Amino acid sequence: MNKQVKFMDTILRDAHQSLIATRMSTEQMVPILETLDQAGYHALEVWGGATFDSALRYLDEDPWERLRIIRKHVKNTKLQMLLRGQNLLGYKHYPDDVVESFIQKAIENGIDIVRVFDALNDTRNLETSMKAIKKNGGHAQACICYTISDVHTDEYYIGLVKEMVALGADSIAIKDMAGILTPANAYSLVKAIKSVTALPIQVHTHTTSGIAEMTYLKAVEAGADIIDTAISPFSGGTSQPATESVAIALEELGYDCGLDQEKLKEIADYFRPIKEEFRRDGILNPKVMDVEPNTLLYQVPGGMLSNLLSQLKDAKQEDKYEKVLREVPVVRAELGYPPLVTPLSQMVGTQAVMNVLSGERYKMIPKEIKDYVKGLYGQPPAPISEEMTEKIIGNEEVLTVRPADLLEPKMADFAAELGDLGESTEDVLMYALFPSLALPFLKKRKDPFYDVPIQEVTITY
Ligand code: CO
Repeated sequence: MNKQVKFMDTILRDAHQSLIATRMSTEQMVPILETLDQAGYHALEVWGGATFDSALRYLDEDPWERLRIIRKHVKNTKLQMLLRGQNLLGYKHYPDDVVESFIQKAIENGIDIVRVFDALNDTRNLETSMKAIKKNGGHAQACICYTISDVHTDEYYIGLVKEMVALGADSIAIKDMAGILTPANAYSLVKAIKSVTALPIQVHTHTTSGIAEMTYLKAVEAGADIIDTAISPFSGGTSQPATESVAIALEELGYDCGLDQEKLKEIADYFRPIKEEFRRDGILNPKVMDVEPNTLLYQVPGGMLSNLLSQLKDAKQEDKYEKVLREVPVVRAELGYPPLVTPLSQMVGTQAVMNVLSGERYKMIPKEIKDYVKGLYGQPPAPISEEMTEKIIGNEEVLTVRPADLLEPKMADFAAELGDLGESTEDVLMYALFPSLALPFLKKRKDPFYDVPIQEVTITY
């Protein structure tokens, strides 16, 4: 029998998050959900990441309702979400009771598989979520944030996987959010992980730098069980490789992908005009489709490159771009090589910009960087030198406990603050995660004439 390679399509989450800032509405998804369910996917990624934030911020949608609607139409295929561990879908640590409640409700409303990661790969930040996922009958996919540095060797990742297995992981994901996983490194990493665990391995990358299809091929040759792809109209660029094409190529090489190409064609035909709409509206920026080899040279995510450039443009200092690009890896090394994923990518980027623009390194230091050095985000992958620690937080204490151990339970407070605007635990969680978005949304639900104030746009990369 041929070796099986399973597929997860990201069209309903990462694909549109990467190409059109997560603007696809539930209404645009519904007519094709049943076809997606029949196409033979192992799973569909439908929730988490920025979907929750975007539904409230731009689409005037209840993100919980989207999940329930998708579940109603997708009866057979597993539904997957992306969770930032103790940060849930936000940008800071939440107390354990909020994490437990959120996961319980996510699974209750339809999620089967939760892919959970921590930006620093500090597994203490995965503990509570992993436990809650398993307690509620979900599949706990522990996820490595892939990055490159002196400390991020195959041995380092093997150690991490062993910790994840000990936490009860049902499968392991390699999340290459920046598109910097090369074919050779993918082969060696998957082989290394396979040598210490029999758990299924899922690989996630982005086509940003133009090598993702090769990376998948080598990962599959090394034994990867599942790969993340996107249906063709929303594939390529900063998104994932095209589902149909990768499946055809792998089938020809003797792998069994289990996908129905006729259904995939129907799905692609459905999404093509939707992509055109986003292109006409200017939401699909043609730049995201460019091949960006700089990602491989600087090991900086594509989204971060463009955001650094726009920060500099705003400050009328575009000529400092190269200087900032060279500063990013220096700051990152000084800070113990954090992976450049939300929220660390923003923090390292901002520090690099400040270091260059202020003319004196660490003259200005954002609060988030101070908190990070204090240990409030978790343990950095490599130790930060005493000299740097002192420069950033003086002689303040560095914490070594699990950061969430410092947080008191908050669900009851959130419920009390929300009062009768909150009709369910889901509402309370919406408020806990995004108070400034949830309040006007819930007020408007109660009173359709309520005038929703314009929300400030935050940068996410
Ligand atoms: Co991704």
